[in-house]
Amino acid sequence: MKQKHAAAAIDLGATKTTVLVGSSDTEGQTNVEGFGMVESTGFQNGGIGDIQKVRAGIQEATRLAEESSGTRILSAIVGIAGEHLRSQNERGIITIADRNYPITEEDRERVLEMAGQINISTSQQIIHMLPRKFWIEGTEHVADPVGMYGTRLDAETHIIVGAASSIENLRLCVEGAGVKVDGFLPESVAAAKSALTDEERMQGVALIDIGASTSSICIYEEGAVSHSASLALAGEHLTRDLTQVLRCPWESAEQLKKTYGVAVSSMTPLEETVEIQAFGNPPEKTIQTRHVAEILQARCEEILQEIEVELRRTKTLERIAAGLVLTGGTSSLEGLCQLASQKLRLPARIGYPTRFENIPEQFGSPPFATSIGLLEYALHESNLSIQNTTKQHSSNIAWGGVGRRLRDFGKGFLPQ
Ligand SMILES: Nc1ncnc2c1ncn2[C@@H]1O[C@H](COP(=O)(O)OP(=O)(O)OP(=O)(O)O)[C@@H](O)[C@H]1O
Ligand SMILES: [Mg+2]
Repeated sequence: MKQKHAAAAIDLGATKTTVLVGSSDTEGQTNVEGFGMVESTGFQNGGIGDIQKVRAGIQEATRLAEESSGTRILSAIVGIAGEHLRSQNERGIITIADRNYPITEEDRERVLEMAGQINISTSQQIIHMLPRKFWIEGTEHVADPVGMYGTRLDAETHIIVGAASSIENLRLCVEGAGVKVDGFLPESVAAAKSALTDEERMQGVALIDIGASTSSICIYEEGAVSHSASLALAGEHLTRDLTQVLRCPWESAEQLKKTYGVAVSSMTPLEETVEIQAFGNPPEKTIQTRHVAEILQARCEEILQEIEVELRRTKTLERIAAGLVLTGGTSSLEGLCQLASQKLRLPARIGYPTRFENIPEQFGSPPFATSIGLLEYALHESNLSIQNTTKQHSSNIAWGGVGRRLRDFGKGFLPQ
């Protein structure tokens, strides 16, 4: 009989809070069983500004996800981002006690533990550790050493560290909403999980998730994560520039950016104009879309330049043959992908997350790469607790009416 394993993931974005519940069975079939999503409030400058509001948002999104999936979410994997994140690669070495026996899973655990022993200050915490490479006898590079013979085993891990205060505040919000944190996963690593191909990971690629408050970077080389980082510069900064230069309210600027915004000013017709809501009297004004594009292009170039600096600093720019894969809501800005390719002289494409049945089509779009990647990680790489609250066993969840109703409901507030 097929056995199901269920898990939940929470993506706390600056604009949307998403909770996903999924399941996978022993035959490898993965399903999204339900979701909850609310507009985020309480975030400020890329961090938590109001704990009560953030907690209330998580509570509501969790309630919706529980209702739609017929489960009770006890714990979840939570995405994390922010400029406080740092990453480094570390190596550990162990000797194998008896060379007559093959390397065991315990040996692999032991060497990874060794590679994870780093000195950090008390104001920092390790968020996540990813195995990168193994070597037997220090020279023979292997994907997985378990079952092979050797006397010395080396491992390299990618370790992500963050500010203890930011991590604990995030935990406080989630656990205050009644969900235990099973682990944190950097948002860029999650997005890379759902939007990259194996070939891109092998040949070297940079996943850039450009959301509202942060641009998160995850670089893969030779099939493993080699660098991850977060920049506090993203879509909100584009909108803020429009409010400042055009002297208009936030909503007006946001609408203008999404509807007429272009990242390459030469792509807009010279004479095209648009009427927007503005401050002062009269409350409308007419502006040239070319002018809007010029404002957006300047900020996009700054974001891309910061990304380039990060890639040069880590000496990865020349090593990512597959170039850039852009996810996050801001990647939908017309012309941004072309501009990125041109400025960094790399191939570039927009990344779409793995498509699941039974959830709104928008979940297959770039703003949801992080949420979907978090769920994939929760389902396949971690153990979580979910209680089934429906009468059916979780392997027999009925998707009829509830699923459809939620699909329609989701359309009301999904980012365009
Ligand atoms: N068509 C579009 N053109 C330009 N920008 C867009 C478009 N659609 C959405 N955006 C922008 O994408 C951003 C939201 O993206 P996303 O949903 O990935 O962010 P988030 O996950 O909530 O935030 P973060 O990951 O930064 O915490 C907003 O700044 C929004 O204005
Ligand atoms: Mg996001």
